[in-house]
Amino acid sequence: MPELDVLSDVYNAHLIQRRDFNESLSEFTIAFDEGGVPDFQCGQYTTLGVVEKDDNGEVVMGRRGPKLTRRAYSIASAPKNQDALTYYIVRVEDGALTPKLWDLKPGDGLFMDNRIKGTFTLESVPEGKNLALIGTGTGLAPFMSMIQEHRGTHLWNKVALFDGCRLAKDLGYFGELSRIAQEDPTITYLPTVTREPEDSDWKGLRGRITEHLKPSAFQELAGFDLNPETCHIFMCGNPAMIDQCEGLFTDLGFLVKDRKNPEGNVHFERYW
Ligand SMILES: Cc1cc2nc3c(=O)[nH]c(=O)nc-3n(C[C@H](O)[C@H](O)[C@H](O)COP(=O)(O)OP(=O)(O)OC[C@H]3O[C@@H](n4cnc5c(N)ncnc54)[C@H](O)[C@@H]3O)c2cc1C
Ligand SMILES: NC(=O)c1ccc[n+]([C@@H]2O[C@H](COP(=O)([O-])OP(=O)(O)OC[C@H]3O[C@@H](n4cnc5c(N)ncnc54)[C@H](OP(=O)(O)O)[C@@H]3O)[C@@H](O)[C@H]2O)c1
Repeated sequence: MPELDVLSDVYNAHLIQRRDFNESLSEFTIAFDEGGVPDFQCGQYTTLGVVEKDDNGEVVMGRRGPKLTRRAYSIASAPKNQDALTYYIVRVEDGALTPKLWDLKPGDGLFMDNRIKGTFTLESVPEGKNLALIGTGTGLAPFMSMIQEHRGTHLWNKVALFDGCRLAKDLGYFGELSRIAQEDPTITYLPTVTREPEDSDWKGLRGRITEHLKPSAFQELAGFDLNPETCHIFMCGNPAMIDQCEGLFTDLGFLVKDRKNPEGNVHFERYW
């Protein structure tokens, strides 16, 4: 069967554009071929997939059709954007899928699951709480969706967004988030970098996010207390960061939200 026919069986979406923040960090805008976007909540994810090819460039067939390399991605756009979905993705050089995503040109097909999933959402957070949103690297993606959807609504009392990256050039949404925080006094944007050369132009915070979470340092930066009665915490990205922070927060009386504790106030999404 010609390759185009094989691919049209599995590909249901196409790349609209890739916006590069640096050589290995980009925002991908992807639309379903049939148009529209399914209902979803800020913080949810779906999967993207590209067919596997053998050494001769032939599509590898499985029992049910072409084999797909698939991975989960948090949606970075707000649900109010109904034309397409955006994703904030870092290229893992020896990764199975991400180099293939970087091979795509605008208009190229790929698979995008229309079943949007995940419980890393604001659904269980009562209005008026303070929110601490803590992301490493592309773990910022779900927070971009939340911030864009809720900016200016003042649903939450105060929102502190920690954005932890290796280098200043890895803070892809620095400009947008700085502007949003200037316009909405309830939002504080707190980027911090770990490997930026000492003599660079960077004037902001340095060090791992975990170094800024001691209660007094947090209070000073975020403008509210790490108090389990008034605050919900969301963490996303590097699993080592999440494991470390979880201990810090449970020691302060916070409770991880899970099936047994649906009232919990600590929420997380591990990327690997
Ligand atoms: C629910 C969920 C949502 C996700 N959302 C995103 C997202 O919005 N953006 C995104 O870039 N990734 C996201 N990921 C990770 C993504 O699914 C892939 O693992 C990643 O893109 C690497 O895929 P790969 O096939 O190229 O590499 P693989 O061959 O799968 O290699 C994986 C290795 O790459 C490293 N790695 C994977 N993801 C990241 C990452 N994001 N940052 C740093 N190192 C990483 C880890 O060391 C991991 O062991 C998410 C994962 C989950 C479970
Ligand atoms: N970022 C780049 O410049 C770059 C370039 C090319 C390829 N890549 C590839 O992209 C992938 C991901 O890199 P990434 O930089 O996006 O993600 P990352 O490795 O998860 O690092 C993001 C941030 O999280 C911090 N961090 C790591 N462990 C932590 C912990 N336990 N507690 C608190 N903070 C923690 C890192 O600090 P530390 O610096 O202290 O680890 C860094 O500031 C890797 O596979 C990498 O090889 C990255």
